[in-house]
Amino acid sequence: MIVLGIESSCDETACAVVEDGRKIRSSVVFSQEKIHRPFRGIVPEIASRAHVEEINGVIHKAMLNAGCRTPDAIAVTVGPGLVGSLLVGKMTAEALGWIWNKPVAPVNHLEGHLFANLLEDKNLAPPFLGLIVSGGHTDLVIVENFGQYKILGRTRDDAAGEAFDKVANILNLGYPGGALIDRYAKTGDRDAIPFSRPYLHGTWDFSFSGLKTAVLYHVRDRGAQDLHDICASFQSAVVDVLIRKTIKAAKKMKLKSIVVGGGVSANSELRKRFLNEGKENGLRIYLPTKQMCTDNAAMIAAAGYYKLKTLDPGCRMPDKNNLNVDPALPIQNWS
Ligand code: KG4
Ligand code: ZN
Repeated sequence: MIVLGIESSCDETACAVVEDGRKIRSSVVFSQEKIHRPFRGIVPEIASRAHVEEINGVIHKAMLNAGCRTPDAIAVTVGPGLVGSLLVGKMTAEALGWIWNKPVAPVNHLEGHLFANLLEDKNLAPPFLGLIVSGGHTDLVIVENFGQYKILGRTRDDAAGEAFDKVANILNLGYPGGALIDRYAKTGDRDAIPFSRPYLHGTWDFSFSGLKTAVLYHVRDRGAQDLHDICASFQSAVVDVLIRKTIKAAKKMKLKSIVVGGGVSANSELRKRFLNEGKENGLRIYLPTKQMCTDNAAMIAAAGYYKLKTLDPGCRMPDKNNLNVDPALPIQNWS
């Protein structure tokens, strides 16, 4: 089954053609990073306008690269994300669904980040423990089966990526901040500043806003001359918390595999330490390749494929007249 994926939840306009949920025939991403950089963050109105301008060209290119005239189905991100941006993808997917008379699968962006790993490892299948670390979310979730989830924990304030972006802002590094902090940290001493680790014992939830404030106070009181050390020490604190809690949860829940997804999974220290800790604890760690860590439509097509396979045979897919976007869409079981 050939699925055309469409992703426009934030600042990437993306389209991909994926075969049987596992083989990427094409993947095209138009990043709006340069457009938003002068504003040090994403401007929602500008993002939606850019999606409108780019989406037809991106779809055309993805279809051409894949040598695909008509897909068997369409998958589109319907949340969480920026409402105006989501609507551009949804309306486009619906229009194509009607023109081609094909089903349209609504996909949760966060599920997509986990499915990115399925595109890269053909043997990966549930059950596993998922850690989604993106600009807006930090979720720890048991994936019991395709579309069967048990949420263990989430962030109570800033998401991991949000904390990276805010700290980069405090340090005047530019936007988006995660990759920049990662780069500066490479030549810093991660033990230089003992930022406290917010473990929130007794719960699987996370909290990163106190850590961000600790960096703010450090810079206020001592300046940012030790920039590389600040980046390395902050990054190390975030990575410590994410890894310790995730490994502990996997052991407690008796899950042998951990699947990581979202923009922060591109972080070099997180990747290195997850692989080491996984080996030490007898756990398999799945990390997407760097280009699959950030937003793309192949992961949406992959999730859409499994959703269609699970729901479509019994005609349990939502009617394509009735697709809704939800900026705060939680991870939910496919019913
Ligand atoms: O998944 P994503 O592309 O978009 C959302 O769905 O939010 O994630 C973007 C987030 C941003 O906060 C960005 O700073 C962070 O991922 N990020 C990183 C790195 N690369 C991107 N954070 C830490 N280290 C990186 N190398
Ligand atoms: Zn994302």
